[in-house]
Amino acid sequence: MGDLITMDDLTNEEIIQILDAANTLLPIARGEAYLPLLQGKVLGNLFFENSTRTRMSFETAMKRLGGEVLNLSTIGSSVAKGETLYDTMQMVDGYSDIAVIRHPRQGAAQYSADAVNIPILNAGDGAGNHPTQTMLDLFTIREAHGSLEGLNVMMVGDLRYGRTTHSLSHALVRFGAKLTLVSPKSLKMPIEIVSDLKSHGAEINETEEMISSISSADVIYMTRIQKERFPDEDEYNKVADVYKLDASDLVEAKNEMIIMHPLPRVNELHPNVDSTEHAKYFQQAFNGVPTRMALLCRGLGIEVPKKVK
Ligand code: NCD
Repeated sequence: MGDLITMDDLTNEEIIQILDAANTLLPIARGEAYLPLLQGKVLGNLFFENSTRTRMSFETAMKRLGGEVLNLSTIGSSVAKGETLYDTMQMVDGYSDIAVIRHPRQGAAQYSADAVNIPILNAGDGAGNHPTQTMLDLFTIREAHGSLEGLNVMMVGDLRYGRTTHSLSHALVRFGAKLTLVSPKSLKMPIEIVSDLKSHGAEINETEEMISSISSADVIYMTRIQKERFPDEDEYNKVADVYKLDASDLVEAKNEMIIMHPLPRVNELHPNVDSTEHAKYFQQAFNGVPTRMALLCRGLGIEVPKKVK
C-alpha cells in the first residue's frame, strides 16, 4: 500500500503532493523547528550495499520527525551467516513499522515488499530503480526552475547501470521533459527503458558527445560509471574517464542551468565546477532529508500539515 518500488507507484499528482509536503517540512529538515509526526514509529534501514547519503538522510529524516531507526547492514548481521532475504525480511516485519532497502540485486525491493506487511521503500535495487532519489532530484529541479514541466534535461555517464537515471528519466518524461542521453555506446540507456520513455511521448536524443548539448540544457545530470556492476575491470577501464565536466565547459550554458549529481562523484565532475552558480549537487543531497520525511509520512499514512511554523 505505502510501498515505493518504482516511479510507477506514484501518479503525477501524488508526486506534486509529496514535493509540496517536503517543502512544508523544510524548517524541520534544517533543524529550525521540531514536529514529532513520527513519534513511536520505527524505521528499518536495511543496506545490503554501500551508502552514505541515502542511509544518513533517511535516518536524519526519521529522527527529526521524532521516530526511531534500526540499522542493518550486510557486515555484522546474520546475512553474513547466509540468512536469506526472505527470512531477514520476516524479522524486519516484526521489528519495524516501515523499511528502506538497498540491495545489489535488481528486483530485491519488490521481492521484499511481497514478503512482508510493512511498507517498503526502494533505496536502490542493483541496476534497477532508485525512486526516493528521483523524488529528491525532482524537488531540486523544481526548487531551481519553479516547475517540472517541459525541461531540457541532459543525462550523462553510465545510463546502462545507473539506476538513478532509470527512475528519473521515467518521471521527467511524464512531465514533458526533452531528454538528451549522453553515454558511451556500451553504457547506453537500456532499450526497454528508452521504449517506455518513447511510449510516454518523450523526445529523446541519444549521443556519445557531451559538450555540444550544454548550451541548450536546463539541467545536466552527471553520473558515476558504476564500476561495481561491470563484469570485469578491463571493460570498466575502457570507459572509466570518458566524461569529465569542467568549469571551462560551461561558458555557453544558460544562466539558470543547474548541474546535478546523485553522488558519489569520481572523475566525471571536476571540483572547479563546485564554485559555479550552476552547481546544485550538495543542495540536492541535503534535499534528501525533507523529501524522505515526506516519503516516510506517506508510507506510514501520516498526513503532513499544510503549514509548519
Ligand atoms: C547513487 C546510487 O546508489 O545509485 N547514489 C545515491 O544514492 N546518491 C549513485 C551512485 O552510486 O553512483
